[in-house]
Amino acid sequence: MSTPKFNAGDRLYKYQLQRHIGGGNFGEVWLAHDLTLARDVAIKILDESMASVAEHLNEAKVGNRLDHANVIHVHYADVVATPPGDVVAIAMDYHPNGSVTTQLNPSNFLPMTEAIRITIDILRGLEYLHESALFHNDIKPSNILIGPRGEGILTDYGISCASPGLRPTKAPDAYILHRAPETTASGNITLSTDIYQVGLTLFRLLNGVGTIRDLRNGVGSTLFEELKAKGKVPRTQDYLPFIPPSVARIIARATKADPDDRFQSALEMRRALEAISLCGYWTTDATGEYLGVSGNQTFRFSQEKTVHGYKFNAFRTRLDSGSETRVAKMSGSKLNTEELKKYRRAFMLSVVNGGL
Ligand SMILES: Nc1ncnc2c1ncn2[C@@H]1O[C@H](COP(=O)(O)OP(=O)(O)OP(=O)(O)O)[C@@H](O)[C@H]1O
Ligand SMILES: [Mg+2]
Repeated sequence: MSTPKFNAGDRLYKYQLQRHIGGGNFGEVWLAHDLTLARDVAIKILDESMASVAEHLNEAKVGNRLDHANVIHVHYADVVATPPGDVVAIAMDYHPNGSVTTQLNPSNFLPMTEAIRITIDILRGLEYLHESALFHNDIKPSNILIGPRGEGILTDYGISCASPGLRPTKAPDAYILHRAPETTASGNITLSTDIYQVGLTLFRLLNGVGTIRDLRNGVGSTLFEELKAKGKVPRTQDYLPFIPPSVARIIARATKADPDDRFQSALEMRRALEAISLCGYWTTDATGEYLGVSGNQTFRFSQEKTVHGYKFNAFRTRLDSGSETRVAKMSGSKLNTEELKKYRRAFMLSVVNGGL
């Protein structure tokens, strides 16, 4: 049976569909109105083409007993008869901001302070899931919703798995890009495989959500899995130049090939991120140009090729006066390619770490 297509105004049980807001591999997500309680909910409509009704209802069972600010709460789920056939409808909190992917800049990444703050939220949610003897197993940007206070909320328990005592358990399914190397080898998921997925998620939020997919497409799936098994996804060269070593080290530790080398709990990883203190961040404007922000100053740079080599100019704008000045100590001329890269990195890092 193919996925039923629904329309605004259709009624499923006590829910009236209002607007189609998304859809993944399994079916459709709708903003709907709960006609008895007169409130908005998000409804996920699943059919049997991807998994059995029992498996779909498992997702709801998991979500219904969860109550934490950083994980989605499921209100209701049941099999509903519709003209195209039986479907499972799962009603959950509706978050109008949608997923974190709606907050990306034109270069598809988030300001570092935001990405870290949201990842800290997700690790709080994950700690709670682990305390509830659950592996999430599908941590990725599109499964992070943004709540009313800008908080990160983990959603989608479609391939989550209960495991008493958090013993390694067979993965019901896998999101290939974030599949930990040991899951590829053994088929199992653990607390450490969730940590691995948080590591890759943070990397993508900081460096561009398309980066890991691009890497896999570039090297091919076999080499991609080999690189993962060596702890080389992401590679050093995949980081944007303003990511400080302190942050890169946390991602590297979360994505180590050997689970024993990773953070041993969501709490441990959260504490490591909480210890990072940043003065500023870089983003990109509508034209894709880098823009640094730190306190009441913004930064940019220019680089041009001259007959004597590259010229790198760093600029600062004070927001109160609006005047832009060149930052001489961060600028240079007659640079070769390597030197140009060094100047750019030093300037970008000094915006992030402070000291300008
Ligand atoms: N509770 C919700 N409130 C608001 N928007 C939601 C909610 N749940 C999902 N969405 C929106 O619907 C989109 C699709 O979500 P969904 O989980 O169905 O697909 P996906 O995560 O992109 O893919 P996959 O099927 O692999 O999980 C999300 O990215 C988000 O924008
Ligand atoms: Mg999803």
